[in-house]
Amino acid sequence: MMDTMLTEVDWRASVFDSLSFPTLILKPDKTIQSANRIYLEKYGLTMDQAVNKTCYQVFYGTDRCPENNCPFARVLLEKKGHTITRRVFTHTQKQRWEDRVFSPILNESGEIAYIMESVRDITRLKILERALKETKEFLEKLIQSSPMAIVVADRYGHILLMNHAAENLFGYPAETATRHMRVEDLYPPEAAAGIMKMLKSEAFGGIGKLAAMKVEIIDSKGEEIPVELTASILYEDDEEIATMGIYNDLREQLAAESRLKTVVAQLYQSEKMASMGRLAAGVAHEINNPLTGVLFYARLMQEKLESGDPNQENIDFIIEDVNRCSEIVKNLLAYARATNQRKGRTGLNALVEQSLALIRDQSLFRNIQLVKEFPADELMIHADRNQMSQVIINLVMNAIEAMEGSGRLVLRTYADDRSRRSFLEIADTGSGISKDNLSKIFDPFFTTKAAGKGTGLGLSTSYGIIRENRGNISVKSTSPAGTTFLLEFPPTNAPNGENEDESTPEWLT
Ligand SMILES: Nc1ncnc2c1ncn2[C@@H]1O[C@H](COP(=O)(O)OP(=O)(O)OP(=O)(O)O)[C@@H](O)[C@H]1O
Ligand SMILES: [Mg+2]
Repeated sequence: MMDTMLTEVDWRASVFDSLSFPTLILKPDKTIQSANRIYLEKYGLTMDQAVNKTCYQVFYGTDRCPENNCPFARVLLEKKGHTITRRVFTHTQKQRWEDRVFSPILNESGEIAYIMESVRDITRLKILERALKETKEFLEKLIQSSPMAIVVADRYGHILLMNHAAENLFGYPAETATRHMRVEDLYPPEAAAGIMKMLKSEAFGGIGKLAAMKVEIIDSKGEEIPVELTASILYEDDEEIATMGIYNDLREQLAAESRLKTVVAQLYQSEKMASMGRLAAGVAHEINNPLTGVLFYARLMQEKLESGDPNQENIDFIIEDVNRCSEIVKNLLAYARATNQRKGRTGLNALVEQSLALIRDQSLFRNIQLVKEFPADELMIHADRNQMSQVIINLVMNAIEAMEGSGRLVLRTYADDRSRRSFLEIADTGSGISKDNLSKIFDPFFTTKAAGKGTGLGLSTSYGIIRENRGNISVKSTSPAGTTFLLEFPPTNAPNGENEDESTPEWLT
């Protein structure tokens, strides 16, 4: 029995010399049974210097082991292998890392006969490990400091990473997101599934890629935010392991674009009005002369007819129509700002009251709730009273027409103390103005009313008058629930005001 065991141990002892790791065979009392060749070379020992001495005598020259972490005792107790990692210094003070692997060698009755200790140099591994850690930290810093919001999720949609920019954009702390959230929670319902589909298709930048596209995300307050999303699937050995989304907040950009659009639209509108003004002024002047002629000859004929002549009525019709034409020409001239003005200081609230009283058919107000919201102090403006009255009447008539006779009409005046401008709002509960029509309502002859009902000159004339008075007219709001028109008047003592009043519009010079 003993013989076979010894033979076995000898056999092991004889082959361990060829092991490529420096290795010791120790007895349970820590005395060295044998050391392989590489071991002796590594520590500069001869076999005699090592054998039958305890390991601490050989390595520390002490009678008691000074090692605290040596797993020798544990190996004896548990009869299984243990490893410790140690940092050591070479004689040139170079740092090296070693794993010391302790493995028990049992005899046939299961008792520990020897413990084999082999040393593995893991310095290279440690250096790689450190480099990897540094790279990982560097990448993490890179991701965290990116101004683009980045979110990574595993293949089941659980969020794995959310950088600082993404925390700000979505409004969740990364910890909450990575613990409790899935990517679906970051989008409107169904949207995440749609994005995933696109990611997996060939059509949006290749399989596993999504070229920049505009989508909506939902932040922690439930607000929809427009973003530009670029996404990709991360693969490992052809297997999907995660998805990554990079988000660029588009709110600022969209706001700037819409501001630009408004400015361009305003420019286009004022350019259009200017050229139409020129045209209107030209037409009005050309028509005025022949109209005067027609009227003159019609009157002449009328005088020559005997009373009771059947042609009398026809001539009355001619004169009536000529007068209608003259009225249109007058309005066109007002739009073209080619009429003479008599401006003066006047109270806005009083002007509104008088204009309402001037509306010939007061029965129009029968089913209209008229609300006047005027400040206690009168607001003074500088304008041509008659013209301004015409504007207010035009707007009130339009409001009544849009409400088809019944609804609520609010006339509100107020002033802005800082700019010293005065305002008049005319708000109705009428049909509203469609988006398509909104850019046309100030054009001469634009009307949605039935033939014979409206000429489409009310707003264009008002526009001309208001601009001539250096004010502004606009649609403040419109919807199927009603429309609010806004008139703006400059301060009464506007600099250079008086000089400009008498000036001729540019298209008449
Ligand atoms: N308060 C309003 N609510 C809804 N639509 C309006 C309103 N004011 C004007 N509109 C629209 O603008 C168009 C042009 O108005 P405008 O006053 O220039 O002409 P009109 O009222 O049609 O005819 P006119 O005033 O010459 O009799 C109207 O036909 C109508 O479609
Ligand atoms: Mg009108």
